[in-house]
Amino acid sequence: MVEIQKSRSNIGWAVGTDNNVVGGLPSLILDATAGNRTMYETKNVKSIVYIDIQKRLYRKPTIFADCTRTPFRDKTFHTIFFDPPHDWGSKYGNYYTIPDLTPRQLKKMGIKATAYYGHEIYQSRMELIAFIYKAQKEFLRILQDDGLLWLKWNDYRIPLNNILAIFKNWHILIILRINDPTQTIGTHQTYWVCMCKKEGYQTELGAYMRG
Ligand SMILES: C[S@@+](CC[C@H](N)C(=O)[O-])C[C@H]1O[C@@H](n2cnc3c(N)ncnc32)[C@H](O)[C@@H]1O
Repeated sequence: MVEIQKSRSNIGWAVGTDNNVVGGLPSLILDATAGNRTMYETKNVKSIVYIDIQKRLYRKPTIFADCTRTPFRDKTFHTIFFDPPHDWGSKYGNYYTIPDLTPRQLKKMGIKATAYYGHEIYQSRMELIAFIYKAQKEFLRILQDDGLLWLKWNDYRIPLNNILAIFKNWHILIILRINDPTQTIGTHQTYWVCMCKKEGYQTELGAYMRG
């Protein structure tokens, strides 16, 4: 039985260890790579399960979990937000690699980055791509058949089309281009992409994929 670690930031959440499942609300939203939740206007919403693997975040997730292998039952979520790192091989202390400092603290120290992006976690392009591949495979299992996956991507190192090629079993529904200067640096574009499962991946896939 896996111990699920409940963080202090998630008051009111029902976290159970029965079958290694987290549950308790009828329909749920997952943030699969929550980081410090800098992208949100409202930082703590009870129906959102925030997960991340980085233990040093200043805003702790609901549970620490790897989004490529989660403790959730098949088809638990109706919406998944996925904002993966979009760079690799950085050293801790460089821009976007300091998880335990608030934007205000970063500013005071003269560091221009205002968010933790996890650019030190994956060491190569291949590692990052393998992570994204495994994560989307897990999302096919834990997303409801009529659920939506929202991918956030910045094309600083890898063009969006190369990333979307990984999402073979998904219909791309909407591509939003974000023009906010805090989201899109120089000529590099940030996107939000909305997807749903392709038909063949909507039934009993979870059981199949766990096998
Ligand atoms: C671009 S940041 C997310 C920023 C966040 N959306 C925000 O608003 O601040 C990417 C996050 O993915 C997390 N991450 C990387 N690999 C992960 C994995 N295997 N499972 C869960 N989270 C992961 C990193 O720790 C980092 O917090």
